Amino acid sequence: HRNEVESLSEPEIGGREPEDVEVAAGETYWWCRCGRSQTQPFCDGSHKVTDFTPLEWTAKRAGPRNFCTCKRTKTPPFCDNSHLKL
Ligand code: FES
Repeated sequence: HRNEVESLSEPEIGGREPEDVEVAAGETYWWCRCGRSQTQPFCDGSHKVTDFTPLEWTAKRAGPRNFCTCKRTKTPPFCDNSHLKL
């Protein structure tokens, strides 16, 4: 199917609002890029049927972070309010 990869190159909308997550210092997180994960904002392996791979991000400091779930952010893995334009 010629158009399969093309049609999958646009991520799904994983959520309509960002997700506040308390991260741990030194911990690595895998942010879902494809939008298909059921455990937003993080990867659950659902990207396997797409051409997406998760984004690896390691927390330097502990504390709350505002992760993008709509997958339209220009500052991944964090929210840049792109969901307001969906
Ligand atoms: Fe979306 Fe892995 S499930 S990137």
